[in-house]
Amino acid sequence: MVAMGTRDAHEKIAVALAGVTGKTGKIVGQAIDESGDMTIVGALSRHQAGKMLRVLWQTSETSVVIANELDQIAASIAVLVDFTEPVSAFPRVMDAVERGWDVVVGTTGFSKVQQAALQAAVQETGVGGALIPNFSLGAWVLELAAKEAARYLATGEIIEGHPTTKLDRPSGTARRLADELGATWDCPPDSIPIHSLRQPGMVAHQMVIFGADGEVITLRHDVHERQAYVKGVLTAIRAVRRVSGRLMTDMGEVWDVVRA
Ligand SMILES: NC(=O)c1ccc[n+]([C@@H]2O[C@H](COP(=O)([O-])OP(=O)(O)OC[C@H]3O[C@@H](n4cnc5c(N)ncnc54)[C@H](OP(=O)(O)O)[C@@H]3O)[C@@H](O)[C@H]2O)c1
Repeated sequence: MVAMGTRDAHEKIAVALAGVTGKTGKIVGQAIDESGDMTIVGALSRHQAGKMLRVLWQTSETSVVIANELDQIAASIAVLVDFTEPVSAFPRVMDAVERGWDVVVGTTGFSKVQQAALQAAVQETGVGGALIPNFSLGAWVLELAAKEAARYLATGEIIEGHPTTKLDRPSGTARRLADELGATWDCPPDSIPIHSLRQPGMVAHQMVIFGADGEVITLRHDVHERQAYVKGVLTAIRAVRRVSGRLMTDMGEVWDVVRA
């Protein structure tokens, strides 16, 4: 059986995936398909709409036909997972929340106002949500290390690198790092310099460089393959099924929910 609105732990979680043709969406979608406890029942793409998902992926038995918008998905959905781009993603994710679906948002570039609006909608409707700028384990460890380092080191800058196709800059991960450093240093996040590189061959790279008298401390995280996001996304899908009216915004929260 497939879990839709109900939250039966024995049923597969019914997932709709926006961005199924993308670099990240494809890898995440195939992992969902192979996970055993969740299943893709809807897939969205503008350019591949009308095609069978299994023809696109060539690895799956799924009978899902790719749709152009949420209204075209006939199946009942439990969770919308979104890896697209911020302009289309925000109204799509808000629409999903209004429909009572849980949401896992990987798309980066939402403004603070949009984040607050999503948080309010999640609280109001009682769905579960995760808006996570970086699902990789290493990025979370980097953030923890940077926060700890900032307790002892009073100055630092952030460097992030991504492929030329990335639309938003600075990256969501870098903006989050600046928020955390700003909170530790009691200064506006905007006052912490972020240097954004956009180069072919890059996947996702973050550095925090702290300076002190006579020494420099560099914390660095590199994603070489998008596989790095998969475990975090699957964990977030399980986690949003376990919370109500709560938008999780970091992987620490997500792991706490599934471990509880
Ligand atoms: N949170 C994380 O850990 C994490 C990790 C990796 C990436 N990301 C974020 O995920 C997003 C996707 O990254 P990517 O590298 O996978 O990008 P990508 O390869 O360019 O894929 C983008 C996907 O979005 C779809 N899309 C683009 N514009 C759209 C629109 N206006 N309406 C509907 N669908 C649209 C595209 O399909 P069609 O063109 O067929 O519609 C495609 O499937 C970005 O925001 C990126 O920053 C987050």
